[in-house]
Amino acid sequence: MLSARSARLAVFASGNGSNFEALASAASRGELGGDLVAVLSDNPQAFALERARLHGIEALTPPTGRFRSRLEDETPWLDALRERRIDVVLLAGFMRRLHAPLLDAFARRMLNIHPSLLPAFPGLDAIGQAWRHGVRVTGCTVHLVEDALDAGPIVAQATVEVREDDTQESLEARMHAAEHRLYPAAVRRYLTEPFRLDGRRLVFGAEE
Ligand code: GRF
Repeated sequence: MLSARSARLAVFASGNGSNFEALASAASRGELGGDLVAVLSDNPQAFALERARLHGIEALTPPTGRFRSRLEDETPWLDALRERRIDVVLLAGFMRRLHAPLLDAFARRMLNIHPSLLPAFPGLDAIGQAWRHGVRVTGCTVHLVEDALDAGPIVAQATVEVREDDTQESLEARMHAAEHRLYPAAVRRYLTEPFRLDGRRLVFGAEE
């Protein structure tokens, strides 16, 4: 639990933004536990930006620099967050690795959703990885972001069964539906319930 006042949230998204949509819908119903203030994207074409405008949420594209897999300079991104007094960053399909100074400034205050039951299948194309591996159960994970790929203490997970008659496409559709249920619920819990870290374990509940 962060503080008594309503947390100010920003989403980082690179693409379609269906998870942003789920978060924004929950916020507009008053079910997210915080206020969604801005969407930041490294991709000016991201549909997530259009979705933000439709929700009346500020849409920003800070500079990315020369590299594809990370931000050359995180300072303008951090400045944009500070100017808007953002408390928590929610990564939702953000396709670049983050480092210091952003991760230092938002340690334990940045969440990500990944479409696998971590630590299985980190990295790109997690649904395809799980599908090709032939798993019988997969799912999605919301976790705190650390300076390691798809790692960090787990806030919430949801399972998705792989059916005998599934195709990768039908599995993907159920996975995304599961993500859209899990992420808003996990954010709400993270924002509204006290928690502590016991090693890697994120434990909800007041200290005894
Ligand atoms: C989701 O599957 C999310 O778990 C992963 O990237 C995808 C983003 O989809 N990190 P969208 O842009 O939210 O529709």
